Amino acid sequence: MASTDAVRNVVLGVSGGIAAYKVASLLRLMTESGLRVRVVPTEAALQFVGAPTWSALSGQKVSTSVWDDVHEVPHVRLGQNADLVVVAPATADLLAKAAHGLADDLLTNTLLTARCPVLLVPAMHTEMWEHAATAANVALLRERGTHVMEPASGRLTGADTGAGRLPEPDEIFAEVQRLLADTQSHNAKQDDNVDADPHATWSGAAAASGTKRRTQDLTGRHVVVSAGGTREPLDPVRFLGNHSSGRQGFALAETAAARGARVTLVAANSHLPHPPGVDVVPVGSALELRDAVLAAAKDADVVVMAAAVADYRPATPAESKMKKSEDADERLVIQLVRNPDILAELSADRPRPGQVVVGFAAETGDETGTVLDHARAKLARKGCDLLVVNEVGEGKAFGTLHNTVVLLGADGSERPVGPADKATVSDEIWDAVVTRLQ
Ligand code: CTP
Repeated sequence: MASTDAVRNVVLGVSGGIAAYKVASLLRLMTESGLRVRVVPTEAALQFVGAPTWSALSGQKVSTSVWDDVHEVPHVRLGQNADLVVVAPATADLLAKAAHGLADDLLTNTLLTARCPVLLVPAMHTEMWEHAATAANVALLRERGTHVMEPASGRLTGADTGAGRLPEPDEIFAEVQRLLADTQSHNAKQDDNVDADPHATWSGAAAASGTKRRTQDLTGRHVVVSAGGTREPLDPVRFLGNHSSGRQGFALAETAAARGARVTLVAANSHLPHPPGVDVVPVGSALELRDAVLAAAKDADVVVMAAAVADYRPATPAESKMKKSEDADERLVIQLVRNPDILAELSADRPRPGQVVVGFAAETGDETGTVLDHARAKLARKGCDLLVVNEVGEGKAFGTLHNTVVLLGADGSERPVGPADKATVSDEIWDAVVTRLQ
């Protein structure tokens, strides 16, 4: 049972990764916001940041072992009294232990006794994150309702870069606040004895959004989502690509499945773990993405084009690896040809009557118009029912965990959403889709 006093109890688990140093700032943000935080490091975590740091910053006792203060039965009490358990960084080893219920220290015992929301924040090298074992462990944890954040992409330890970086402390803190707010409003609803929607479930997909309650309003619907960024081959080893992480599309697929839909996710070059219960079709280029989306759209009720599709592709990709010439001043000219506009094609020629088509647009304002002016024109040009508009530019990077969008409807509606995590944005998009399906 979580705390009944006004102060909220958070267990902050720290497992043995170099990113542990960043978690000292997270702890600071938590305690300054009034949370009572008990830090539970693993033995390995203490190799990176020592117990005195955690103890001084939290103002609480720090232990790693179930054998300290045995009379207080801490391995049971900590989990029972927590309103939220957060583990940051969560290493591949910690994810594996959590997925399989191993409990060989205070932190892993706490994970088994906690009945509150659990947030795991993975950080590791890309190879470890992408390993089939880690992906399966994450899928299993999410299926059970554990909230697993996506790691960020960027500089890792040493000189390498890739997916696996710990998200910034303020992003983790935003997630902590959201989960605590969710449990508070859930508890308040329980206390008020409000009748729950009989069709609602506590779904694992939630996955994308902790323990959020979702109505099964997409049951019986087939939903197609494209995600990621296409790669247009120049030769067998090179391509023209973009920075799309695929996160928003994956969150859409996951939340649609949680609302009861049969989901086909056409994923272009994304390394994100496959959402549970979703049929994933991996593709590379825009032409491959078009084929896969058009095939899946034949019996779909909804198609969402969240992928960043290249507008052009090299006219004639080289069959063997291109060699540079000896002339240092020579310029290489590559001829590009237009790719088909899949969204416009789908909108104009719907394979099923009543099919709802949703597009995405990343826009900047300029001297000819605002972001929304350009987006309205794009909505009309593409002919879709709904356009999810993202303002890009200064400080609004790809691959972030949060999103601020405006949902523009072909009916003239305009709904701002966020800043919010991508699962919440997805739910708002599905709400708008469901009203159009009716
Ligand atoms: N899109 C598509 N096929 C393409 C290009 C884009 O289906 N060849 C879809 C994207 O998936 C997205 C929407 O169209 O849902 C808007 O993408 P965007 O790149 O903003 O549109 P463009 O038509 O390329 O517009 P711009 O000229 O502003 O780049």
